[in-house]
Amino acid sequence: MGRQSWHILEEDLTGTALPNDLRVRDPNDAIDCGWVAQMVWALREFSQPGDRVLDPFCGFGSTLVACEEEGRAGFGCDIDPERVAICRERLRRRGVTDPQVVIGDARDLPYPNDLFDLCLTNLPYFGFDSRPQSPTAGDIYASPSFAQYLELLSQACRSLRRVLAPSATVIIMAENIRLRSGVFVPLAWEAARILAQYFELQEERILCYRKPSAPAATSTHTNRSHEYALVARQRQTRVDIETARTTLLDLAGRAPFVVIGSVAVELFAPGKLGRAPRDIDIVVDSNSEHLEQLVLALQRLGFIVTSWGEPVQVPLDANQLQGRFYLRGERLSRSGERLLIDLTYESTISFTTLWTNSRTVCNGISVASMRHVLDLMRLANKDDVPELAARLGIPV
Ligand SMILES: C[S@@+](CC[C@H](N)C(=O)[O-])C[C@H]1O[C@@H](n2cnc3c(N)ncnc32)[C@H](O)[C@@H]1O
Repeated sequence: MGRQSWHILEEDLTGTALPNDLRVRDPNDAIDCGWVAQMVWALREFSQPGDRVLDPFCGFGSTLVACEEEGRAGFGCDIDPERVAICRERLRRRGVTDPQVVIGDARDLPYPNDLFDLCLTNLPYFGFDSRPQSPTAGDIYASPSFAQYLELLSQACRSLRRVLAPSATVIIMAENIRLRSGVFVPLAWEAARILAQYFELQEERILCYRKPSAPAATSTHTNRSHEYALVARQRQTRVDIETARTTLLDLAGRAPFVVIGSVAVELFAPGKLGRAPRDIDIVVDSNSEHLEQLVLALQRLGFIVTSWGEPVQVPLDANQLQGRFYLRGERLSRSGERLLIDLTYESTISFTTLWTNSRTVCNGISVASMRHVLDLMRLANKDDVPELAARLGIPV
């Protein structure tokens, strides 16, 4: 297949379909099982032979069959134990002796950091209500509202970001749908919005299926015979420390905050981080007047400020911010330079503790103590903490 922005899929690859005796083991007759051909072009274009490929919603294993066909190391996770059993059996029949498929929740992926080169998956759809058994907690199919569906998806993206290598690509296949009631749900577009909160969007491909576009007999019936492959990658942002310093100095007069994360290390002990920081992290108090001053200052500096992807405007609504932990500012310059700043107002270590205990002021900018910076990095599962602690001369 070429590198055009659309692909036409005529039929699935011969001999790769889910065998019938396995299909009937699923109470829904595996109605949501995808095609292997749907995944093969993506593997060829976005991975190399031998790469580790994860499908966090692997279902009956179409992605893993495609991996086996293309010589990639496929790993699958699904919340439904029966589907995992079917998937393993399908792969064994194809000669895979030790299928790497686990029962698990995509929101808390059971893998070490940075393991995978590619995530390739088909989303569980909103409104799929055909599962007869009582759903497992966390089953995205069981989301009672679209808001909850998007929240679960967001949690899965957060977990995914941790297990993907810094250079990894993410490809999510998603369709817009129409519920049985007739209501149109722009699921693919919302999924792209969520994906963009965690990854850098690259492009979309459109997959067209040459098959009748008859509504499926499920709650999420659709007249569509096309879907999107949303392509993103781990954020490649590199913060220029001088730009970070100038930005932080601009904010410093507006409201109190402490810098944490990799920029804190670079400001406190230049060169010890061993790499360029990816974004700026600050902890602020939850006083809404202070937060508003910082939001206004960021907007004046050309940042778009959002809370979980939704634009934020002043005056802030304190009730709406509760439980959402942080605001994000993102600035894209006309030369393509991107700068991210996260303002955490509900931090695991409180603002008061960070502000009052051993903070240092580096050229007018308050930096949290390195002990706190390392503790927060450890809590966020950053894996280079022991090495960094050694470079800073702090015993762990
Ligand atoms: C569209 S199906 C995937 C089908 C798969 N692409 C195939 O061709 O066989 C989505 C899958 O997501 C799973 N799922 C739903 N919530 C999940 C969660 N929180 N973690 C992992 N899997 C989940 C469902 O059990 C379902 O098998």
